[in-house]
Amino acid sequence: MDKSRLEAFWMPYTANRQFKAKPRMIVGAEGAYYLTKDGRKVFDSLSGLWTTGAGHCRVEIRDAVAGQLDTLDYSPAFQFGHPLAFSLAERLADIAPDALNHVFFTNSGSECTDTATKIARAYWRQVGCPSKTKIIGRVKGYHGASWGGISFGGIPANKKLWGQGVDSDHLNHTMLPGNEFTRGLPQSGAELANELEDLIMLHDATNVAAVIVEPIAGSAGVIVPPSGYLSRLRQICDKHNVLLIFDEVITAFGRIGDWFAASAFGVVPDILNVAKQITNGAFPLGAVIVTDAIYDAFMETGGAEYNIELPHGYTYSSHPVACAAAMASLDILEREGLIDRVRNLSPIFETKVHQLKGMPYVNDIRNYGFAAGITLDPYAGEPTRRPMEVALACWDKGFYVRYSGDTLQLGIPFIATEAEIDLVINVLGDVLST
Ligand SMILES: Cc1ncc(COP(=O)(O)O)c(C=O)c1O
Repeated sequence: MDKSRLEAFWMPYTANRQFKAKPRMIVGAEGAYYLTKDGRKVFDSLSGLWTTGAGHCRVEIRDAVAGQLDTLDYSPAFQFGHPLAFSLAERLADIAPDALNHVFFTNSGSECTDTATKIARAYWRQVGCPSKTKIIGRVKGYHGASWGGISFGGIPANKKLWGQGVDSDHLNHTMLPGNEFTRGLPQSGAELANELEDLIMLHDATNVAAVIVEPIAGSAGVIVPPSGYLSRLRQICDKHNVLLIFDEVITAFGRIGDWFAASAFGVVPDILNVAKQITNGAFPLGAVIVTDAIYDAFMETGGAEYNIELPHGYTYSSHPVACAAAMASLDILEREGLIDRVRNLSPIFETKVHQLKGMPYVNDIRNYGFAAGITLDPYAGEPTRRPMEVALACWDKGFYVRYSGDTLQLGIPFIATEAEIDLVINVLGDVLST
């Protein structure tokens, strides 16, 4: 395509000038592979953007979407409902841990961040603590590109251009020196959670609404929490009446060999955000799952029955086609035992990815489930260039590997075979050593 015809599309989170000079066009996909415009098959080492673990172009999802488009293509999201939204909410409440029983639908992870933190702030108002408004995020956290996302997130490049965001403070990240090349959960570092107590003391608990963390930070390069860290956050939140929000937009629905990180790590938040894998990436959908206590507080303080208890929502909240895609996608995960598959094959993936230790420039490798982050030594003064060069060389060799900041990221499809895992690691090894 003529370069001038590429200028109309301002691509998101993309080096537009570089891309348009040498486009990497994807025109099809099947299973664990993309088909490129120049006719190559490319292995999808990040399952899209952590979205498509069950593989691409699943006919079950296509049929569900097509059927839904034939029956009810859209239904007003406000003041009217359609049965599938209630069934999906019930299904999510059933698989979510403990008291997480009520689901607010969004269209993306970013909208989940805004929704969850708006609910948190409104909750405290409804129960008589209106000064509890501050949200605490974490350095290296990613919660999306909305104002909430960039305010509570902690990736400097995503924050620097915008000026004042939403009132927030941040915990430090959990990448402790000495924990490099840990397989799975680092055994040291749980005490880093105590910083939450320091921040609550600093701002006073009467002003703090919630803390939001990714149980495993994905976009900053798969930062796995130290053993005991998340449960310590839970204890501190309980002690000071602060809500705990888990952003499980990447970790939910199988990526780490369980339905949720909350279930895998035995730590239940007050609010749990999901998106991405919920529809296997085939249709935009997010969901914010809250406890009975939060939902009931809104119902009890809502005033007259005709009052809207939470004046919030999106035109496409609980879109019928998204709900149909989610149902089909959850069916696939269950029917094909894909979550067990990830759990069972994780040790093999772990062994293979850590074989990259000792390769040129590799200064850390972290992993959990079917997720791994590899930090590379930067070029002097150019922290993001080396991962980009490595990933683009992999692309030329038929492997899509995500690069971001100073890391490479692997989120292989749940359906990936051992041979495919071998191939990705071998290609990375080849590229790093040339
Ligand atoms: C943990 C997490 N939260 C939120 C988001 C934002 O999701 P979206 O891009 O759908 O708005 C992402 C996206 O990568 C994410 O990884």
